[in-house]
Amino acid sequence: MDNGAQARLAAARVIDAVLHHGRSLKAELSTALAGIDDVRDRALVEAMAFAAIRHQGRYAAALSRWMPRPPGARDAPLRALIYAGFAQLDPMGLPAHAALNATVDAARLLGRAHQAGLVNALLRRAQKDGLPTAGADAAWPAWLLAEVRANWPQDVEAILTASAAAAPQWLRVNTRRVTRDAYYTRLIQAGLQADVPDDMPDALRLATPVPVDALPGFADGDVSIQDGAAQRVADALMPAAGARLLDACAAPGGKSAHLLERDPALQLLAIDIAAPRVARIDQTFRRLGIGAQARVRAADALDPARWWDGTPFDAVLLDAPCSATGIVRRQPDVLLHRRPADLDALAALQAQLLDALVAVVAPGGTLLYATCSILRRENATQVEGFLARHPDFALEPLDARFGRDTGAGHQRLPGESGMDGFFYARLKRLR
Ligand SMILES: C[S@@+](CC[C@H](N)C(=O)[O-])C[C@H]1O[C@@H](n2cnc3c(N)ncnc32)[C@H](O)[C@@H]1O
Repeated sequence: MDNGAQARLAAARVIDAVLHHGRSLKAELSTALAGIDDVRDRALVEAMAFAAIRHQGRYAAALSRWMPRPPGARDAPLRALIYAGFAQLDPMGLPAHAALNATVDAARLLGRAHQAGLVNALLRRAQKDGLPTAGADAAWPAWLLAEVRANWPQDVEAILTASAAAAPQWLRVNTRRVTRDAYYTRLIQAGLQADVPDDMPDALRLATPVPVDALPGFADGDVSIQDGAAQRVADALMPAAGARLLDACAAPGGKSAHLLERDPALQLLAIDIAAPRVARIDQTFRRLGIGAQARVRAADALDPARWWDGTPFDAVLLDAPCSATGIVRRQPDVLLHRRPADLDALAALQAQLLDALVAVVAPGGTLLYATCSILRRENATQVEGFLARHPDFALEPLDARFGRDTGAGHQRLPGESGMDGFFYARLKRLR
């Protein structure tokens, strides 16, 4: 049986883990994709999983409408497979006969041969009647939506719409190895259409996302995948040539790598509390051919006594753990997994991290606070609190490239300039 049933089964397993067992979409996908050889199958599994998580509210409404008793906990894997089937019809728009046959066969692979007829009937119903529509707000938990609405009353509709859309694929060219213009030409020669975004010196944006192994020279380190908003961190920090730089929450290493591509002479210490993720920083540096002099270690940024040699840093990047509410389009499961208590804990951790890092910033040095959140309490409110606690720091101006000025840092909202939602505050330690 090789009509794509295995790909549907793989997608159903990912969807089941995320929807019913609280697992992370990114982590589940990366494990599932590692076991699939065919590049098109990998793209298909990824597309089904993303679409099913984004549209799970509509799909649940369809099952409630069309079934007297929708699948319960014991039938959770079946529900996940039906969602993978719905995703192929809407929004992916695959040919219905292929979607139906392969998904029905996948029900057999799932050990649900006795329910193959049910899967077939539901997919035919979806094809004939269409799946229910829903506003972009339906995917957001009420408490989180209320906070976004209170924070951004004028922009909430745009935020919801951008968060429900598939994200474009931003590339960061490794200008140590190849110029952006030369890489652009290679993309075109490979048949990939790309834009050259304004005012972004290292960035290109693909019209249609592709798996990394379809990108010319990816394995050789010519290019990385990184959203434009994340690339802006290097512009916001702008360390002096050869500066002593600390990346305090560095894994998997995207922003450190960008900074080193721009200036290999930086004296970088990259730390992160999550040891398995620290290994990914090393892998990233090796692939890109950078960071031979960098020090990379697993360490708790809250406890500098354990990792700091006492020589202050000219520049410190705190790309803090956060709600990820600015990147819902890339991590739609954020809306399933976040709880109000997580937000309280994150805001407390961010303040502690800021306070702990004060000691390691040199007089005249810079602390860049960044998050991929759109919530004020993780962003501007956090910076206001920091400045009140630390009068020896001042906010430095940033310009409109970093989004709108909140008065205490700059906020990019999701979708603006095609980018993720992101926050940047450049804090200078007074001499
Ligand atoms: C937003 S991610 C960093 C992304 C990274 N800067 C990049 O560009 O690839 C936040 C990171 O903070 C780390 N983290 C959380 N608490 C930490 C702590 N107390 N000390 C150091 N790292 C911490 C997490 O493990 C996570 O990798």
